[in-house]
Amino acid sequence: MPKIDFLPDNKIFEIEPGETILETASRNGIPHVNACGGEGKCTTCRLLILEGIENCSPETEKELSLKNKAHTTEEFRLACQTTINGDIVVRRLVLNKEDIESVSERSVSGRLGETKKIAILFSDIRGFTPFSEKLTPYDVVFILNRYFNRMVNAVESNHGTVDNYIGDGMVAIFGLHNEENPAQYAVKSALDMCAEMDDMKPYLKTMYGQDFDIGVGIHWGEAVVGDIGAGKSKRLTAIGDAMNFASRVESANKQFQSRILISEETHNEIKDSLVIKDFMRTNLPGIEGRVTLYEIEDINFTSEEESINEIIEESIIWNKCSEIESFLANPQQVFKIKREDILVVNVEDNFYALNDKCPHAYLSLQGSDIDMKNETIACRWHKSAFCYKTGEVREWMKISNFKKMLGKIGLNAEAQEISQMEHIPVDVYKTKQEDGFIWVGIEIKE
Ligand code: FES
Repeated sequence: MPKIDFLPDNKIFEIEPGETILETASRNGIPHVNACGGEGKCTTCRLLILEGIENCSPETEKELSLKNKAHTTEEFRLACQTTINGDIVVRRLVLNKEDIESVSERSVSGRLGETKKIAILFSDIRGFTPFSEKLTPYDVVFILNRYFNRMVNAVESNHGTVDNYIGDGMVAIFGLHNEENPAQYAVKSALDMCAEMDDMKPYLKTMYGQDFDIGVGIHWGEAVVGDIGAGKSKRLTAIGDAMNFASRVESANKQFQSRILISEETHNEIKDSLVIKDFMRTNLPGIEGRVTLYEIEDINFTSEEESINEIIEESIIWNKCSEIESFLANPQQVFKIKREDILVVNVEDNFYALNDKCPHAYLSLQGSDIDMKNETIACRWHKSAFCYKTGEVREWMKISNFKKMLGKIGLNAEAQEISQMEHIPVDVYKTKQEDGFIWVGIEIKE
């Protein structure tokens, strides 16, 4: 049987028929590094053939392509790809303790490095510095955490992984763990993030008298994915030009005053499902040549979770909400449907669905008083009253009759402002009871 002489170990072993050099090494306890697990995806198991190169098997396709990239000579062979038919003498190249530890220490995900296509999402807050300058540090941290709570949820509920926080910015990766439809989920996540931002704005305005906005950039590209770092902070992450590109796409939002921009690669990957608002050709810092960026309006993509709770009948999408029984304890419940918060109220076992955002200042209607006699819901913030069946305005902010009269003759500024405001009805939706659940129907727009 052919033999291998391992240097600097000075150990000689017989090699079994068909066995690779790596297999012989590991069978005999020689600490030979193989970051990809011996699959011919990296060059860490490289060794130098000192004698007997003619006894080595021809280079495999994987080995040839890796060796071209690594610019090595023919004496360097990959242990995981090479078998022998005669004696050889080899020198292991990765020798020191640090090298061995870096690949053998506890791996977070078990993935030590691969190139793969992923969708990378960068988000950033627009106008946070002027916003935060007027606040105490406590408020800044409180608001940021409240904001990130919503954004992280928008990423994770769309099968993404938050990779990093950079100040008030966030990096998320879709497809890191081989999830399905990563590019679609990244765009859906960006839309959900913007909806969450819109949802937060009335609260910020009410509490702090000001608000901020968000910019999101998405790129679909190849990156090196693996467990990177050391000690407790070692984690599965991605590196490469694609990450940098996604960050540049996000920054372009400032120039175009847009909220969600995607790269041409992302557009090409999922263009059939996208609703595009606009597109632009531009230069991005550090990127050669002009690129095309697309501004996103919407995406026609129903996630697996959504499709389980969705039925389309004629021109209505019915969404399953919660069990009818649950309304005994909670007669007013809010459901997120197609990025809208929809309030379902139980009025003596009849169920009505309204947009949860009061059209006056977009604050939540949940918890407002119901008047069964007049069939109204009176917003708990400034007491605008709407018919819960039709959505029509019955009262636009409650002020006294005396003030109303003064407003009409232009003598009370507050009353005059209110009387001049457009009175906007609240959107209402169909409901039905089926299988013990409440369903809310949204009409499909032509
Ligand atoms: S938010 Fe002002 S009346 Fe509803």
